[in-house]
Amino acid sequence: MGSQLIEEQAWSALEKSIIYFRGQPIGTIAALDPEIAALNYDQCFIRDFISSALLFLIKGRPEIVRNFLEATLTLQPKTGQLDCSKPSRGLMPASFKIQSFNGQEYLKADFGDHAIGRVAPADACLWWVILLRAYTLSTQDTDLVEREDFQEGIRLVLELCLVTRFDMYPMVLVPDAASMIDRRMGLYGHPLDIQSLFFAALKASLEMLVPNETNQFMIRAVENRLIPLTKQIRENYWLDPDRLNVIYRFQVEEYGEEALNQFNIYSDSIPFYRLANWLPEAGGYLAGNLGPSQLDCRFFSLGNLMAIIVSLTDEQQSHKILNLIELRWNDLVGHMPMKLCYPALEDSDWRIVTGADPKNRPWSYHNGGSWPVLLWMLTAAAKKMDRGELAHHAIAVAERRLMEDHWPEYYDGPDGRLIGKEARTCQTWTITGYLLAKELLANPDHLKLITFAEEQ
Ligand code: GLC
Repeated sequence: MGSQLIEEQAWSALEKSIIYFRGQPIGTIAALDPEIAALNYDQCFIRDFISSALLFLIKGRPEIVRNFLEATLTLQPKTGQLDCSKPSRGLMPASFKIQSFNGQEYLKADFGDHAIGRVAPADACLWWVILLRAYTLSTQDTDLVEREDFQEGIRLVLELCLVTRFDMYPMVLVPDAASMIDRRMGLYGHPLDIQSLFFAALKASLEMLVPNETNQFMIRAVENRLIPLTKQIRENYWLDPDRLNVIYRFQVEEYGEEALNQFNIYSDSIPFYRLANWLPEAGGYLAGNLGPSQLDCRFFSLGNLMAIIVSLTDEQQSHKILNLIELRWNDLVGHMPMKLCYPALEDSDWRIVTGADPKNRPWSYHNGGSWPVLLWMLTAAAKKMDRGELAHHAIAVAERRLMEDHWPEYYDGPDGRLIGKEARTCQTWTITGYLLAKELLANPDHLKLITFAEEQ
């Protein structure tokens, strides 16, 4: 199948996914599968819209992104609530849909109150801040971001992450299933996927908050958080052969501020022999989660790729992550770029950690399934580090299947060969993940919309 034909099809499918609110384009729906009941896939998800939005910015269609940013801002609760059934101030919804009443259209938001398992979308407000920066960079329209309602929107997101909290770590604490992985997968606490977005949202906020009196407090809070957050992730989430050796011989039960094993990680909780076998000498990655006596050694693609893109990892670490992807290609990319996490939880781990969730059985969906949307992040990370060949290779792999399979949401199996058991077809972020990867490869200048310079 020619690449040009695939792209034409993809653009036309993207066009069909656009939704209109009072006559204006405002977002894209999650999937346009004609064969399965829509459930909530006819909604516009904030996280799903990001790749669509970046494409619209690249193609000179910023109005839709602006409409989206304005609409979602109106959905963000602005006042404190004592009612636990109402979303917290500052939160952004996971998704919204358009409803008609008496001939008038309204936006209806889902903050997790309608979602399976009532899961909270902690990533939505972080993506919103990241997208607002991309919009501003792309259009040079500073009027929007400087508007008081937008400044307030940023402040409220930051307040939610920075101000009131239970723990003493620099990472942000979230419940399980609070991101793209929106079912229970053992990600309560400080999952990497959220930390990478959190870091990017902090950096973006610093660029966007006008340094006036109202913002002073938040600007200082962000600056104070960035340094320890970066240090924590680069040091304590990092796993490579050297680090494995250190953790293997960790002392435990250390008390006090000088403790080396700060999190009291017990050696027996880590699959050292499997990891020592799997981790190439030249490779490394950021662990999936870190907390008291917990170091989750699964590889999570979104968190690792976004860490490279936004310079949360240093240059050497970024290369080591890409080395790992290159050297463990069959495990992490296989027949469809790329695994959401690796390896899958199996047997009693699957039963205990996911709550025996059949949709997330081993090597399916979130539990070791392959998600084509990650193609754009892989491409961006590879291009940023001047490793374009990895991106070319991954795109070629994806092109063999995506259009023929009607753009599935995800693939199953240890090698990503099976179309996901319950996957939708015509999934918008599959389509845009592919198109955005192509655009970033063709013109790496667009990377600036999503990357941050590394601080030395
Ligand atoms: C699934 C995914 C979630 C996505 C949604 C819409 O629930 O887990 O990440 O936003 O579908 O595509």
